[in-house]
Amino acid sequence: MARVPLPHPGMNTLGKSAIISDWLRYAVVQSQGVRVKMSETLATVRDYIRWGISRFNEAGLCFGHGTDNAVDEAATLVLQVLHLPFDLPDAYLDTHLTLAEQDKLQEVLEKRIVERVPTAYLTGRTRFAGLDFVVNEKVLIPRSPIAELIEHGYAPWVDHERVHNILDLCAGSGCIGIASAYAFPEAHVDLGELSEEAAAVARTNIENHQLQDRVEVVVSDLFAAFSGRTYDIIVSNPPYVGREELKTLPPEYGWEPRLGFSGGEDGLELVRRILCEAGHYLKPDGILVVEVGNSEEALVEEFPEVPFVWLEFERGGHGVCLLTKSQLEHYHCKLEK
Ligand SMILES: C[S@@+](CC[C@H](N)C(=O)[O-])C[C@H]1O[C@@H](n2cnc3c(N)ncnc32)[C@H](O)[C@@H]1O
Repeated sequence: MARVPLPHPGMNTLGKSAIISDWLRYAVVQSQGVRVKMSETLATVRDYIRWGISRFNEAGLCFGHGTDNAVDEAATLVLQVLHLPFDLPDAYLDTHLTLAEQDKLQEVLEKRIVERVPTAYLTGRTRFAGLDFVVNEKVLIPRSPIAELIEHGYAPWVDHERVHNILDLCAGSGCIGIASAYAFPEAHVDLGELSEEAAAVARTNIENHQLQDRVEVVVSDLFAAFSGRTYDIIVSNPPYVGREELKTLPPEYGWEPRLGFSGGEDGLELVRRILCEAGHYLKPDGILVVEVGNSEEALVEEFPEVPFVWLEFERGGHGVCLLTKSQLEHYHCKLEK
């Protein structure tokens, strides 16, 4: 996906006069070697959050990577860059920033507004299911509604005491598998991921959470490297975006790995393989949970006989289905076609 170039004097990339004039002023002042820049008018934490909110709204940014509005997005970016907690007491919002802090904030705010880099890639971290994860551009930014299912211990779909083995297929940063490991403190969790670079990020997250003794990353094309292993839960947020939908994604998504989105012509190429093969890797009472997003309709149309359970989420999100091992086996010949 094409990336938006940085504006330079005489070029109005976004057609947004206020942003450009701010950045032009920044560039001009910077070239004069004078460290006043925007700090003439922006001085405090609150100033930078407020300025970010205004510019984010003005630029029409897309908020799809952990926040859904300019206020939360600006607060997240500014507080994380300053290494401040989200529950910072109000009084600190009006404290003055050093010039070094202001330089850093101006740099990341510019990248967010002009280059449309998602906040999590600018800070290198994000939260999922109440946990911290490191991310980089080799992994999708965690945001699956499956977080809510994990927080509820996959209730009412499993007997909590009897869950010993979990597979997170298409694991990316490892967020789903690692959060599941917290939900089932006795369980062993495998993370299957095709990309070596994404697997490296997952390993870092496993270490950061000190889960090396029971969470393992396996580089694998779906189930290829899992022969002989069986699971109580197989959970997957695979690539499921179809060719046409890929072209419509906002610029922010262009920073994420294409491998994390591309589900072939209709988005269902990997989903079909998972539905067809998962039954072999489930224990007798095992369940499969798969996110298919906007491909839900196409899936139901293709397999009208299969009794998918579509999960509902209090915090929003859709397109996550659940099937039991016995359902996968019963409908195997239909799913195989
Ligand atoms: C939608 S991302 C989900 C990442 C993570 N589970 C999450 O929820 O943030 C899909 C992931 O599947 C991986 N992937 C793509 N094709 C794969 C395959 N054939 N086998 C295993 N993983 C694959 C991608 O590299 C990407 O990390």
